Amino acid sequence: MRVLVVGGAGYIGSVTVSELLESGHEVTVFDNMSTGHREAVPAKAQLVSGDVRDEAALAQLFSSAKLDAVIYYGGLIAAGESMQKPGLYFDHNVSGVITLLNTMVAHGVLRFVFSSSAAVYGEPEAVPITEDQPLRPVNPYGETKAAIERLLRWYDSQCGLRHVSLRYFNAAGATANLGEDHSPETHLIPIVLQVALGQREYVPLFGSDYPTPDGTCIRDYVHVSDLAEAHLLAMQRCKVGSGVYNLGVGHGFSNLEVIEAARRVTGHPIPVRNEARRAGDPVALVASAEKAKAELGWRPKITALEEIVASAWRWHRSHPHGYSGAEEGRR
Ligand code: UFG
Repeated sequence: MRVLVVGGAGYIGSVTVSELLESGHEVTVFDNMSTGHREAVPAKAQLVSGDVRDEAALAQLFSSAKLDAVIYYGGLIAAGESMQKPGLYFDHNVSGVITLLNTMVAHGVLRFVFSSSAAVYGEPEAVPITEDQPLRPVNPYGETKAAIERLLRWYDSQCGLRHVSLRYFNAAGATANLGEDHSPETHLIPIVLQVALGQREYVPLFGSDYPTPDGTCIRDYVHVSDLAEAHLLAMQRCKVGSGVYNLGVGHGFSNLEVIEAARRVTGHPIPVRNEARRAGDPVALVASAEKAKAELGWRPKITALEEIVASAWRWHRSHPHGYSGAEEGRR
């Protein structure tokens, strides 16, 4: 298939682009390069620089490339930041996606895989979380994902746009060549590994008084290669219909357990400093991924936390300053 990957120069997007190419698909990457990395885009993919909020740029792209499907990874991703800048998140993650969907419909491209998030659930009623739980985001980032999921139902019934929304839990780990490089970094595992690399003095631990066994938040870490694989399966699913799926391994680890795993993997003591809770953080997010397994045939392969952290550690050690080697944004 000829696939457009919006945000394909980013962390999960670039791993998906690589797997799509290996499976024989033709790939165009559309990325505004605000957080993406040119070095993460394989030479076999065509890279077009542009923003989904730019209607003219999208129209030009869809007129020149004959596309079969679109996978969307664009948008802003930091739940904590979205509490400070909700309007920015609504602009990129809602207005931008609406422009993209309208362009798709206008050009008859009717298969769409959407990067949604566990953040749509907010504080879940029960864990593991099944897809039928109510959507009650506790931060604007989650609200943007829930909003697009709701709009997609109407694009489906009124415009025939078949879509799969994939609700990721916490993406983590790396492949041999592709890894996580955000600037500034806000995610737990890369921050912990930056301490092990001597680039930070300590891990700021946001909250140690949560109602969990060790007082820290619990998350479900899913390997980036397994996430990428799910997108290929989702693209096939769009041929027969639309759906919404959780992607996680079904087991939660507390922030302290993640730090402990990183100590074992790196052999570094990784000092921690207790800090206040971060606004907008749900206590525990753990997936039930049974639906993705049953309907998409998804089988996550790298599910042990230590293996996930070890893959990230290998990448961070071989790319101590990320893709470009730039120092900015780190402290
Ligand atoms: N944390 C710290 N210190 C840090 C960074 C993070 O204690 O320096 C804590 C957070 O407070 C949270 C946990 O580590 O309790 C995980 O935080 P991340 O920022 O790594 O990830 P989030 O769970 O906030 O969010 C991630 C993605 C979202 C997605 C969500 C789904 O960034 O896009 O997982 O579970 F929605």
